[in-house]
Amino acid sequence: MKRKDFLKTCGYACLGGSTMITIMQSCTVTKTISGNIEKSDILVAISDFQSLEDSKIGYKKYIIVNNDLLKFPICVYRIDENKYNALWLECTHQGNEVQVFGDKLQCPAHGSEFSNSGLVTNGPADRNLRTFPVTIEGNFLKISLKAV
Ligand code: FES
Repeated sequence: MKRKDFLKTCGYACLGGSTMITIMQSCTVTKTISGNIEKSDILVAISDFQSLEDSKIGYKKYIIVNNDLLKFPICVYRIDENKYNALWLECTHQGNEVQVFGDKLQCPAHGSEFSNSGLVTNGPADRNLRTFPVTIEGNFLKISLKAV
């Protein structure tokens, strides 16, 4: 095999491998659940954040919460065992759905970016994402939807 062909083959193999890893990571990282709405709160079991990795219980950084009554999903970040951030995934620029990438959220429409606390880090959006108060009650998070 000529050097040029060898490099070309290796390049395709690396590209295929990294693409596959990205696809597999995106499949395993994001967890979406359906949250129950009671009165003006949406309830999320704290155990929904748990994940089993190498026979140890770990915690997902965030989960996405849906409900048919909601126009947009809510991303709930687990900052620590006592602090959670609940973010409405509607972009404050022109109302498209924001996508979650680890600790960063990005709008596919025009590229606005937000932190995991909902702060704008890159425009064109000039307002933070809407957030909701989260309280811990027993084994559940109560996310108040009064502002929706
Ligand atoms: S709608 Fe999100 S950046 Fe424009």
